[in-house]
Amino acid sequence: MGETRKVKITDTTMRDGHQSLLATRMRTEHMLPILEKVDQVGFQSIEMWGGATFDTCMRFLNEDPWERLRAIRYHMKNTKLQMLLRAQNVVGYKHYADDVLEEFVKRAVDNGMDIFRIFDALNDIRNMEKSIEYVKREGAHAQATVVYTISPVHDYDFYMRTGKELMELGVDSICLKDMAGILAPKPAYDIVKGWKENLGIMVQLHCHYSSGMAAMAYLKAAEAGVDVIDCAISSMSSQSSQPSIESMVCALQDTPYDTGLDIGLLSEIADYFKEVRTNYTEFDNASCSPDTNVLIYQIPGGMISNFINQLKEQNALDKLPEVLAEVPRVREDFGFPPLVTPTSQIVGSQAAFNVIFGQRYAMATNESKMYMRGYYGRPPASVNEEVRKKIIGDEEPIECRPADLIEPELPSAKETCESYMEKPEDIVSVALFPQVAPQFLEDRMANKLEQANEGSDVNPI
Ligand code: CO
Repeated sequence: MGETRKVKITDTTMRDGHQSLLATRMRTEHMLPILEKVDQVGFQSIEMWGGATFDTCMRFLNEDPWERLRAIRYHMKNTKLQMLLRAQNVVGYKHYADDVLEEFVKRAVDNGMDIFRIFDALNDIRNMEKSIEYVKREGAHAQATVVYTISPVHDYDFYMRTGKELMELGVDSICLKDMAGILAPKPAYDIVKGWKENLGIMVQLHCHYSSGMAAMAYLKAAEAGVDVIDCAISSMSSQSSQPSIESMVCALQDTPYDTGLDIGLLSEIADYFKEVRTNYTEFDNASCSPDTNVLIYQIPGGMISNFINQLKEQNALDKLPEVLAEVPRVREDFGFPPLVTPTSQIVGSQAAFNVIFGQRYAMATNESKMYMRGYYGRPPASVNEEVRKKIIGDEEPIECRPADLIEPELPSAKETCESYMEKPEDIVSVALFPQVAPQFLEDRMANKLEQANEGSDVNPI
C-alpha cells in the first residue's frame, strides 16, 4: 500500500447547498443551532457566504448579510469560513468599481472570512487580478477558480495554461468549478493530475450532482491527488447540489484517501438539516432523477427552470425544446462562454428572445449588447462577427479590463445611506445593491425606532 493522503472536505450546505436546492432561502436562525456540531467535524472549511446569499438576505429574508457572517463566525471557533466571490462582480451580477471590491474584501476579512474562492464567468484573468490582490493584502486565503466548461477551445491545454497563469498571481490554492455538473470522471482525473504535477499547489474540486456524475468525478480526482472536495450534508445534497458528505466519507474509507471524518456526528447534522429543509418546501426544487439534459445541452438546471418561467409569462411554453436547442448556438456565437452567473443569464435570455421573436438577434437584450461591447471581459473564443454587427452595429468593443472604465462608486453609496447607516459595511451593501439595500436599511432603522419606543430589547444575538 502506498502513502496515505487524506482527502479533505469543504461543507457547502450553508451556501451552495441551499442556493442550489432551496432558491438560497435558508435563514440564519436555521444555521446557528447546528454550528457548534459542524465545527467539531474537522472540515477543511465551510462555505457559508457569497454567491447569491448576500443579495437574497436583503431582498427576500429581511436579513443583514453582514450579521449572518458575524453570527456564524462567533459560533465557529475552529473551522475556516469560506465564501464565493464573483471577482469583479463581487456578489452581484455586473462589474463594480475597484473601490467597492476592495472595501468589500476588507470588511469581509474584518468580520471573519478566511477563504475567498474567486471566479470570473469568462475565465478572464484580468477580471480576477484585483480580487486576488485585495484578498492577499488582507492576509486571507485567495483561491483562484477555473470555471469548467466544454467547447472546442476549452481543452486540456486550456486548463493547464489558465492554472499556470493564476499561479503566477500568487494564489494560495486553485479550484476547478463545475457549476453545471458536466465534468466526467476522466477529465476530472486528467486536470487534477496535471495541476498537481505542474503547479505543486493545493487543488480543490467543486462539482454539482445534476447529471449524476459528480461522485465518480470525485473518486477519480482523489486518485489523481485532489486535496479537497466540496460536498453537502446528505439531507441537503445531490440533484443540483453537491454530492453527499457521508457518501464520500464512506466511499473513501479504508483507502489511501480516507477522510477520517466521524460518520455518527455527520448523521446527527444530516438529521438536523432534514428537519430544517421542511421549512422551505415552497422553494424546494429537488427532483428525484438526475438531469441528463445538462449533458445534451450543457444547460445548468437552474437555467431550465428560468426558461420555463420566462416562457410561461409569454404563453410560449411549447417553445421550450426550441429554446434549449438555441442555447448552444448562441453560446457559440458569443465565443463559447462557460454558462455560469452572469453569462448563463445573458446567453439564456438571448436564446429565448431569438426563439420568441422568431428571428435570431432581431432583438438583443441590454446584457447581450454590453457583452458584445466587451464590458464583461474577453470571451474565450472569437465571437461571430456577423452576430456582433447585428447586436451593436459598427461600435468598436473595448479592449481593456472592464472595471478600468468604472469610476469609484463608494462616495455616492456613502451619501445615499448616510441617514440610516449603522456600520461601514452598510455602505458596501448599498454600493452593491442600490435597488435593494437602501430600502432594507431604512426599514431596519424604522423597526429599531419602533422597538425602542416600545421599550423592548433590540436585537440580542
Ligand atoms: Co456551485
